[in-house]
Amino acid sequence: MSSPFEPVTVSFAASAPGRVNLIGEHTDYNDGFVLPMAIDRHVTIRVRPRGDRLAVLRTQRDRRPVAIDLSETIHPVGRSWSNYVRGVIEGYRRIGFAIPGFDAEISATLPAGAGLSSSAAIEVAMATVVETLCGRSLPRAEKALLCQQAEHEFAGVPCGIMDQFAVCFGKAGHALQLDCRSREAVAVPIDAAVRVLVFDSGVKHSLADGEYAKRRAECASAARFLGVGSLRDVTAADLEAAAGRLPATELARARHVVGEIARVPAFVGALADRDWDSAGRLMGESHRSLSVDYAVSCGELDRIVELAADVPGILGCRMTGGGFGGAAVALVEAERAEDAGQALQAAYRHATGIDAAWFLTAAGAGPSVVVG
Ligand code: GLA
Repeated sequence: MSSPFEPVTVSFAASAPGRVNLIGEHTDYNDGFVLPMAIDRHVTIRVRPRGDRLAVLRTQRDRRPVAIDLSETIHPVGRSWSNYVRGVIEGYRRIGFAIPGFDAEISATLPAGAGLSSSAAIEVAMATVVETLCGRSLPRAEKALLCQQAEHEFAGVPCGIMDQFAVCFGKAGHALQLDCRSREAVAVPIDAAVRVLVFDSGVKHSLADGEYAKRRAECASAARFLGVGSLRDVTAADLEAAAGRLPATELARARHVVGEIARVPAFVGALADRDWDSAGRLMGESHRSLSVDYAVSCGELDRIVELAADVPGILGCRMTGGGFGGAAVALVEAERAEDAGQALQAAYRHATGIDAAWFLTAAGAGPSVVVG
């Protein structure tokens, strides 16, 4: 099940990237397609081995140490950030990893609460710490699933598989087209003519507040009405034919999911053809569908997308991640990327008074370990 290597007994640092999703939103838990990429912003855990069986964690922001006894069953604690770490450690304990004690210092270049998967990044970074200390590793897909399970059980978010897979399978210069049913992943090159811009709305998002779980339940209910296992098995024509049998909310949610699943391969095709107009149009359709039919956008994200349509060099823009705040992602012409970011920031400031953070990002690699 796990491949052995020498346990690392000296200080080391493990890093895992965040991710931005280019298209395919709220499709992962419907067995559909997604197209995320790992980005060049990370969570890093600096580790020093200890002589006992305690994990003592500190973060950049919160200097109060959190101590976890590695020799007994670990449980979640309230709504603490440490639950992501606790869940991952407990996941490895359950499958027989005997984890030695360590001091850890967690820092990040990845903003939290911006919809860029800081939770998956901390989970996968901690999974990498555990594997490095124990001298054995899980296959990447199993590592991603263990981290997803930690998020379900310890953070109370019934997330899909996109984030943890995007983080574990990150590949420099590439996005990842993931079929969330078969888990088959295809690396999709990002052409040098375009850049990916991340624009933070400044509105903190939280998936633990119940709306995410509610959407998941509405999709499951729509699938039941339609007599299928998941919305992956529904076509636009099926949906139209069955429209009268579905309650209005289920119909709207299903319309988003069915359309969004089809948009992913269409977008990948547009990237391959360097058909930026089509790529941009598909991003716009995705956003509208998330805002109107799926109801996971917010006024600020809608505003960003509306303003982006008038910024020279921006080819397409949409909200990214779970929604309810967080960031938007834009595809921009490489040559005009800096100017486009500045122009969008100025327009958003003018419209809302919010001084938004934005950055251009490149598709990066998955987790890494540096010894010393
Ligand atoms: C969050 C979840 C993912 C996915 C997205 C929406 O990021 O963690 O599994 O469902 O929302 O696409």
